[in-house]
Amino acid sequence: MIELGVNIDHVATVRQARRTYEPDPVWAAVEAELGGADGITFHLREDRRHIGDDDVRRLRDTVHVRLNFEMAATEEMIALACTIRPELAMFVPEARTEITTEGGLDVAGQLDRLRNAVARLHDAGIVASAFIDADERQIDAAADAGFRVCEIHTGPYAHAIRAHGRDLRAPAVVAQLDAVAIAGDRVIERGMRFNAGHGLNYVNVQPIAGLPGIGELHIGHAIVSRAIFVGIREAVREMKRLMRAAGADGASST
Ligand code: PXP
Repeated sequence: MIELGVNIDHVATVRQARRTYEPDPVWAAVEAELGGADGITFHLREDRRHIGDDDVRRLRDTVHVRLNFEMAATEEMIALACTIRPELAMFVPEARTEITTEGGLDVAGQLDRLRNAVARLHDAGIVASAFIDADERQIDAAADAGFRVCEIHTGPYAHAIRAHGRDLRAPAVVAQLDAVAIAGDRVIERGMRFNAGHGLNYVNVQPIAGLPGIGELHIGHAIVSRAIFVGIREAVREMKRLMRAAGADGASST
């Protein structure tokens, strides 16, 4: 059955707006678990703009479901992952000037470096995932680098929906959905788990959740935004209900 990883960085962003101790992203992770999250995702950025090193240690001690460490493929982050030992480590491109992750990782352009990084993670018992665009060349490169999971970037799909009056049947939206579906088929064909995420919300999640073979969605902003009004447990419950109702089954395994 399709699974949900909840990204709690956005809670830390609110905390850092005041450079104080609340709201606590670790509390948010516990609430998300109680709402039915199958995993918790955090992104430790090089500039520590939201999640900090202490949060990472406390998340490892507290979270019972799978922990997904989103990171740039740098020496510092790989070494930290090997110490913390999350169940999943996801490589993303990182730029200091971006507001959020803007595009998929260029795996094809740094194959040897990433092959080495993936091997180090797998040796430490951590499953390695690549966040990539819906692009066959990048998927094949991810398989060649040894990644066991690909998270396909759904940002362009989400953007198309907003740009076309939230019409899920607009040709531009259908084209982006098809691109994710084709990419997902290729990910599975190459023996990897098909995950997806970025920009998903309560309006646009179901077509993605209904794609054949999809394993897991990673969602942050929409859940934390709704949680302001209904609480994290309820926001997670509602997202899972929508995902499951979309009828996804037969998820590929890691
Ligand atoms: N997947 C990746 C790789 C991300 O960088 C993010 C954002 O932190 C997400 C998923 C979640 O995106 P959103 O916050 O738009 O749901």
